[in-house]
Amino acid sequence: MPKDIMVEVAGVSKTYRKKSWLGQEQVVQALKDIELSIFKGETLGLVGESGSGKSTLSKIILGLETASQGDIRFPSLSDQELKKQALQVIYQDPYSSLNPNLSALELVKEPLYALPKEEAESKALAILERVGISGDAVHKRPKSFSGGQRQRIGIARAVVSQPQFVVCDEPTSALDVSIQATILDLLRGLQDEFGLTYLFISHDLTLVRHFADRIAVMYKGSLVELGSASAIFQNPQHAYTRYLLKSNLSLDPAQARQELADLAKNKQSHDFVTQGQWLEVEEGHFVLSIPDK
Ligand SMILES: Nc1ncnc2c1ncn2[C@@H]1O[C@H](COP(=O)(O)OP(=O)(O)OP(=O)(O)O)[C@@H](O)[C@H]1O
Ligand SMILES: [Mg+2]
Repeated sequence: MPKDIMVEVAGVSKTYRKKSWLGQEQVVQALKDIELSIFKGETLGLVGESGSGKSTLSKIILGLETASQGDIRFPSLSDQELKKQALQVIYQDPYSSLNPNLSALELVKEPLYALPKEEAESKALAILERVGISGDAVHKRPKSFSGGQRQRIGIARAVVSQPQFVVCDEPTSALDVSIQATILDLLRGLQDEFGLTYLFISHDLTLVRHFADRIAVMYKGSLVELGSASAIFQNPQHAYTRYLLKSNLSLDPAQARQELADLAKNKQSHDFVTQGQWLEVEEGHFVLSIPDK
């Protein structure tokens, strides 16, 4: 049975123009002709080194940036639903994305501005309790909370308006390893409860392997491989995917981030091919591959 599609990314490219310090204009091709569908109710993991275009793709899907070419479609959402905050995002660092002057309750209530006051308040309190923030704590400001608790507030704020699709852009990368698992459990619980679709961006391949249903691998703005988490790990096809798997990234997120940044810098010795045909090597497992090779 064909799966319902939540997001269709159709031939999306993105170029940025920026001035170098010498005043010359530079063109950065952040995304090259991305074709991708995200199915309803799944978690799609998006991996790739720093600068490969992961955040840019998610911003274009969310409508926060415009594509230079191509389209984003939500075939199962009506315009009405799209307007009703069906798309949300959870950022890596809730501290910088949460207004420090508002209490947890005010922060979570904010997206519900269109509802009557009392209804907004009771919805916000219910979701805060669901994520583990209750009692007097709801009146405290972000600075009074630990990193993990702040992320819980960020999650509550993202899901309080009952979205359909949520981008999680490295939601646990700033947290201690011991806290990561509790946040992932929470995300998974909310996904089951509300039928959410996640695009889960991470540097941590081990984490993505266990958290995502499918994995998309990006390299220098191109999608180079896409498949189920088990296919990507057990039968990686693209040289870059194999390289990422082999490079044995640290479990410590800060360390893994640094290692990936180093990988990105080390371009000469690791120049992988991004031209080719999009081939289906086994059912649902695609790779960008050089013809006749
Ligand atoms: N607003 C912008 N102006 C100019 N260039 C940009 C802008 N945003 C992103 N870029 C460039 O686009 C490319 C992709 O960036 P992006 O932030 O999407 O990468 P990423 O995969 O999310 O990296 P990271 O893992 O470090 O978050 C990079 O070369 C980046 O410098
Ligand atoms: Mg990013």
